[in-house]
Amino acid sequence: MIIKKTPISVSKYLNSETKKLKKKIAFIPTMGALHDGHLSLVKKAKKKGYFTIVSIYVNPSQFAPNEDFSKYPRSLKSDLKKLRMISADLVFTPLHKHMFEYESPKYTFKTFGIEKKLCGKSRPYHFLGVSDIVLKFLSIIKPNVAYFGEKDYQQFFFIKTVVEQTQLKTKIVMAKTVRDINGLALSSRNNYLSKEQSRVAKNIYKSLKILKKIIKNGEDASKALNQQKNFLLNEGFTKIEYLEIRTQDLKKSILPHHRSRIFIAAKIENIRLIDNLLI
Ligand code: PAJ
Repeated sequence: MIIKKTPISVSKYLNSETKKLKKKIAFIPTMGALHDGHLSLVKKAKKKGYFTIVSIYVNPSQFAPNEDFSKYPRSLKSDLKKLRMISADLVFTPLHKHMFEYESPKYTFKTFGIEKKLCGKSRPYHFLGVSDIVLKFLSIIKPNVAYFGEKDYQQFFFIKTVVEQTQLKTKIVMAKTVRDINGLALSSRNNYLSKEQSRVAKNIYKSLKILKKIIKNGEDASKALNQQKNFLLNEGFTKIEYLEIRTQDLKKSILPHHRSRIFIAAKIENIRLIDNLLI
């Protein structure tokens, strides 16, 4: 497994080597603290026979000043070990200074109001921070395909839409959410949960599944959403930031149907969890 630390060294390597390898390049951006959710994306790319590149970089511009940037778990050594085990081909671990100084082409794109809905409401700059860094990575690596997790569906959809508006040729692909045995979507933020809080957290998936069933049966969605909000608060969540049904392109879903998605962000104290489920 090759490890590269600067944008220049990655581009140089790819320019000279990948043509010889005659393989397509897949890219998986991460912030490290790798778990089976992240690894599933890498495995998916490897299975397709791609030269698979993983970045590990905790991107400051997607965290607001009051968020957990400095506390975000960092575990490079064990991350590299996990990636080696599943035969990732190249890991890119840049420093902030390298990414900050790297001047990518200036892309212009429409945000379709991502900053005003769902996660964007409480984190108005988050997706712009994400797109800024992902576009930098894409212009350095120029992968044929990049994988994003369904768990962060809003992020996947935003990046896909943004990339389609640029000259970049990368195909943006979504990979299924990996969950623990209780249905809780794997997340590095789950490490912050105490045992009791983990018990509370698993109710998110329970609620999503109940809602899916109710909506499929054509029952009253807004009543069901309120019931589930109350259920989650009773179970120990301290705040339901949103629990909404939207279309696949994140528009308000007036008549929820089988192509809609249920989105949730909920807090237990200061731990914020998100999830979503296709109906
Ligand atoms: P991070 O949270 O590390 O996630 C990296 C990728 O792993 C994302 O595409 C995310 O959706 C996916 N992922 C996380 N948990 C998952 C799960 N349980 N099942 C399936 N996929 C999962 O998302 C980011 O980093 C950053 O915003 C990034 C895109 C790297 C930009 O900084």
